[in-house]
Amino acid sequence: MLIIFIGPPGSGKGTQASLLCEHLSITHLSTGDMFRTAIQQETELGRHAQDFINQGELVPDQLVVDMVAEAISRPPQADGCLLDGFPRSLPQAESLDEILSADGNGIDAVLELDVDEDTLVARLLDRQRPDDTLETIKNRLEVYSQQTSPLLDYYRQRGQLTSIDGKGTVQDVHERILADLPSGKT
Ligand code: AP5
Ligand code: MG
Repeated sequence: MLIIFIGPPGSGKGTQASLLCEHLSITHLSTGDMFRTAIQQETELGRHAQDFINQGELVPDQLVVDMVAEAISRPPQADGCLLDGFPRSLPQAESLDEILSADGNGIDAVLELDVDEDTLVARLLDRQRPDDTLETIKNRLEVYSQQTSPLLDYYRQRGQLTSIDGKGTVQDVHERILADLPSGKT
């Protein structure tokens, strides 16, 4: 099973992905978390990614695609996973299609978490991750609107997109996700 979460920074991708992965017994793969681990471990990948992340820019597509291709081919991810924050550009979405078709697998659902900008900014300023400064948040939102939001049409046209209202309590949003998952996936 493969589920994709798309949403702007602070929309709750990580929070909801954890709950849904536990519910479905699948693996949570967050590209942001993978980069933060690489930075902490001071790997080559981490050194490459750090400046992009600090500025709220996307890490170059090829670096991300190679990292995800390697991760989703490994067990237990190969049996089912949720991609949180990938793909987030059209080239990444096209690369994912190629990787999956080579494996004979497909995408089961693409879930968009929809949250207004004031709520996003308030949530992120409250959290205080290193990239949660007002300046970087504004850039992350701009990058989302320019480079990631075109993916909504990409998946909508293929009939794979489900939009979820991401406001309200964490539990409310979780229940909406379970109710709106395409049938047979819960
Ligand atoms: P990434 O780590 O993916 O960050 P992001 O997309 O900016 O999103 P966040 O993780 O900040 O928010 P979230 O939607 O996961 O929400 P969360 O659950 O944490 O990416 C970071 C960087 O890595 C990127 O800028 C880029 O540089 C790089 N990168 C990553 N993937 C990449 C890719 N594919 N290509 C290129 N570069 C890539 O919630 C946020 C806060 O709100 C938390 O404090 C949470 O507790 C709170 N919260 C959640 N839900 C609720 C609720 N319902 N009510 C109240 N508070 C809530
Ligand atoms: Mg996250």
